[in-house]
Amino acid sequence: MNIKKVVIIGSGTMGSGIAAHLCNAKIPVTLLDLTTDISTQARDRIYKSRPPLLIDKNKINNIKVGNINDDFDAVKDADWVVEAVVERIDIKHNIYEKIFKSRKPGAIVSSNTSSIPIKILSEKLTKDEKKDFCITHFFNPVRYMGLLEIVKNENNDLDKINSLKKFCEDELGKGAIVCNDTPGFLGNRIGVFAMQVAMTEAFRMKLSIEEADAVFGRPMGIPKTGVFGLYDLIGIDLMADVLKSFIKELPKNDPFQEVAKEIPLITKLIETGYTGRKGKGGFYRMNKTDNKKILEAINLETEEYSSTKKIDLGIDTVNLNLLISRKDKYGEYAWSVISKIIKYASSLVPGITDKFNDIDEAMRLGFNWAMGPFEMLKSIGVKNFFERIDSFENNKFLEKLNQNKDENFYGERQKYTNIETLGKVKPKAIKIDKNKSADIYRFKDFNIVEFTTKACALDYDSMDALKNATDKPLIIMNESMQFSAGVNLTYTMNFADKGDFKSIEKFIKYFQDTCKHLKYSKYPVISAPSGLVLGGGEEVAIQSNFVVAHTNIVMGLVETGVGLVPAGGGCKEVLWRWSQTEEAKKDPDYAPLKVFNIIGYATTATSTVEAEPLKFIKPEDKKVMNRNSLFEVSKKLIEDNKNFTPPKECTFNLSGKPLKDKMVKILEKLYNEKVILDHGMVVGEELANVLSGGNTSIDKTLSEDDLYRLELESFMKLIENKNTQDRIKHTLATGKPLVN
Ligand code: NAI
Repeated sequence: MNIKKVVIIGSGTMGSGIAAHLCNAKIPVTLLDLTTDISTQARDRIYKSRPPLLIDKNKINNIKVGNINDDFDAVKDADWVVEAVVERIDIKHNIYEKIFKSRKPGAIVSSNTSSIPIKILSEKLTKDEKKDFCITHFFNPVRYMGLLEIVKNENNDLDKINSLKKFCEDELGKGAIVCNDTPGFLGNRIGVFAMQVAMTEAFRMKLSIEEADAVFGRPMGIPKTGVFGLYDLIGIDLMADVLKSFIKELPKNDPFQEVAKEIPLITKLIETGYTGRKGKGGFYRMNKTDNKKILEAINLETEEYSSTKKIDLGIDTVNLNLLISRKDKYGEYAWSVISKIIKYASSLVPGITDKFNDIDEAMRLGFNWAMGPFEMLKSIGVKNFFERIDSFENNKFLEKLNQNKDENFYGERQKYTNIETLGKVKPKAIKIDKNKSADIYRFKDFNIVEFTTKACALDYDSMDALKNATDKPLIIMNESMQFSAGVNLTYTMNFADKGDFKSIEKFIKYFQDTCKHLKYSKYPVISAPSGLVLGGGEEVAIQSNFVVAHTNIVMGLVETGVGLVPAGGGCKEVLWRWSQTEEAKKDPDYAPLKVFNIIGYATTATSTVEAEPLKFIKPEDKKVMNRNSLFEVSKKLIEDNKNFTPPKECTFNLSGKPLKDKMVKILEKLYNEKVILDHGMVVGEELANVLSGGNTSIDKTLSEDDLYRLELESFMKLIENKNTQDRIKHTLATGKPLVN
């Protein structure tokens, strides 16, 4: 089956998201709604969306729009028709009747329903039509959510389902998991159950919402929104509707029923307009007192709001065994929630799927959990788990596991895909070294470095791992969400607070040496970034010999935002790239001025398409839609570069003072317009000093080391400046930049 054209019916949140993503995959797509006005407005929303649904906004007109009366002929040419109209069975049935009258023979028709079973959706179809009808359940926002559930039943043509799955993996880059026609399918059945357990246990154990979110969050490998924060984000009213649908669809004795019961506080919140972030607030709300915004949290018992209290569990890595064996209420809560999730998920095997690892994958891709329930069980250990669990009657999976006590029950991961992913490779590779910030694996005849810190922030140990891993070809990539959010600012500030600037200088120097080493080592170094590739993260990537980037990367040298300049070779490398352009050959100031703007404004690209014109990504770098494929493509590059020779060192001819004066003029204009303030001037002048070559002239040739030295000097001046330290502290505390 070849999918060359797609029609989407319904241009709301999901229809427009799916259309945008097909456009990202360069597949011609037509978006139809009741009127062309509605679908045109949807296309406008796609254009303006933040974070952007389109990888390349210039391609917006590749999405054709129309209405279901005048433009329905588009269905005749489509290889795949996706229905994404409101969740109403009568409307959906009418649309299927119309589609099946017009569709090309054999074309696939799917619904994006989140809750209606195939059995009901397809009840009016003929036997032949049923073969080609399935559910393709995309998650919102479509471009960014890795999970796609393809729901089938006994009537489907399995070859067709498999080729649709392959298309969605290869072309759309989704983690496409095929599952059975059961309520809530895979992800939501477990994910919503988990949320309900986390919530009802918090009520039962009298935890505050901040406490519950602090446990059911990062320490469990779950996003930091936790449960109450996530409820606010999704919408408390929407969650109530989802629960009603589960209550209706699931058997009366399903444990879900117990945790989905109506909670009076929730009903009250909905009735009073506290539906979450889109409403007046929810479990959390922003309150303004004395012109100051204060985040407040509701007390589950008194139902009153008061300012949130920070809960520090003193945990910075996920270690479930440590967490559940804590002798406090947090440990007890964690065990109670985790064990219930494991019990429920395992009770659904083989009903919802016979491949339990698919459930883990759905939780990782659809809910951004670091591990799914079965991986949690593996991490706790079979023996430990059964020593503590109370009962598990009628749970075939756990009964069998209890009999054989097989600690290695898990077997392979990511069985759902044929792609050779990093997750599949890691268990087969040898971990040759590790430190507190990175792991080094040897696989076949090359090394892999995976950063292991929070947001993969970089410190001395991360650099040490990279440097030690260049004795073979090297792939730098992570299974976690981010490639790297940059240098670990807390680590840096700890030295600054003690006045230990020598240690900072030593670290930055080592960072530079390592990046230079990556670039010129005997064997090829490949960075395979996804997620955030910021600051130091970008410096590692762009000083690698090859880049294999996920198309959704967020990339930028953002150091000026915290009052610093890129000092791991970022200024130098981007300047070098710009100085290779035709314009730069005519005007020696062209490249430095361009880079001054790019770095000065901390310009950030939200895709490889945006990163390329900034020269963060090179035309020859590989851009990959499916994050799972980063490893395979990187491995192929190693195989194709058996005769690799490192690049020649680059040199620079920069104008020095006259160029710096030009840059300072730009800064003065911004200062007069109040775009930047006093410290902005100071930071800008340091950046100008680096990019103009410092005390040099155009006829003097500077080496890479000269540029590294300039970067380091400016960085050190700035980090010793109190105003930079204020910026860093503010960003660490609030996640936002301080303009000073
Ligand atoms: P929405 O309310 O944003 O959009 C529905 C669109 O369908 C509207 O533009 C409406 O004008 C159009 N429509 C209604 N009747 C129509 C008809 N007869 N012909 C053509 N267009 C018609 O809904 P949303 O959120 O996009 O949901 C669509 C489907 O996706 C639903 O089945 C929903 O359950 C499912 N879903 C929603 C998710 C979400 O996060 N919003 C997530 C996953 C699935």
